[in-house]
Amino acid sequence: MEIIDKYGRTLKTLRVSLTNACNLACVYCVSGTPRKGVAKLPHLGVAALAHYIHQLHLLLRLDTVRLTGGEPTLYPHLLPLVAALGEVNIPNLKMTTNGHLLAPLVKPLAALGLKHINISLDATTEEDFRKIANTKNLLPIFKSIDAALEGGITVKLNAVILRGINDSQILPLLQFAAERGIVLRYLELMRMGPMFQEEKFQQYYFSQNEILVIIQSQYDIVALGRPQNATANYWQANHIKFGIIANETEPFCSDCDRLRLDSHGRIYGCLSNNEPIQLSDCIDDETLLQQRLLAALHQKQHVKFTGSDISMLAIGG
Ligand code: 5AD
Repeated sequence: MEIIDKYGRTLKTLRVSLTNACNLACVYCVSGTPRKGVAKLPHLGVAALAHYIHQLHLLLRLDTVRLTGGEPTLYPHLLPLVAALGEVNIPNLKMTTNGHLLAPLVKPLAALGLKHINISLDATTEEDFRKIANTKNLLPIFKSIDAALEGGITVKLNAVILRGINDSQILPLLQFAAERGIVLRYLELMRMGPMFQEEKFQQYYFSQNEILVIIQSQYDIVALGRPQNATANYWQANHIKFGIIANETEPFCSDCDRLRLDSHGRIYGCLSNNEPIQLSDCIDDETLLQQRLLAALHQKQHVKFTGSDISMLAIGG
């Protein structure tokens, strides 16, 4: 049975949330509603988690597995897990991190085959970073970015832009990325966690168009479009390539191929859907597993992400 929906969508990118702990407290992420009942659920061990991913890979022939959190570098078994995933033969193994604890992990991760890392960086100055992340401690992130680049890792930067908080960082972030030859992607704020409240969302939301106007004040830009299944629209600004994940302005649900797995062995077909689908009773039963995957696929929105009161902390972006 092929796992495909009536819009032709499949599940090719698996995002694995290793923990919902995080060492930052970003304004758009903290104070989201915790998922009900999660505290009582056991976490999967490394071998079990690798087995789940293997079973999903056998059915879905995944292109990409991305490790997320919370903050994945806080997961105590990150290196053993990456080692175990080496045996699963996923074509692309990637990670999204806030970069604080990444520097010492770069070499061992690269040696184990993890060579693509997205680092969240919402500001280049301590003053603006503190407004978002509740710490001004940027240096460890800068060190991690340098270490990753030196270690031959492909780095992308993610920056969520919030009105009145870090919209003044749009050009400095682009400059920072350009100096290091890194692709930066700006994110429009999503209605998630604390930003699911419409008032908060409207207060902070900063649109793709507004971002482009600021960049165009300094650069000539050429639109490159959005690659199939990608979240970001891309532009060339002189020699610099940048992207915008315009969840609100140009939703990308129509060809979304993402599936999410949490550390309790539950899957989600969509960030907008708070109903996890448990796999613990079916991970070794191909027929049942196919049914659950179809159910997850059917959780996807057709056109547009509608939002959710669970935070990215719980589900990993
Ligand atoms: N809206 C937009 N982006 C968000 N992220 C976390 N919460 C939100 C939100 N409400 C970002 C993180 C990280 C990526 C996985 O998602 O900053 O870069």
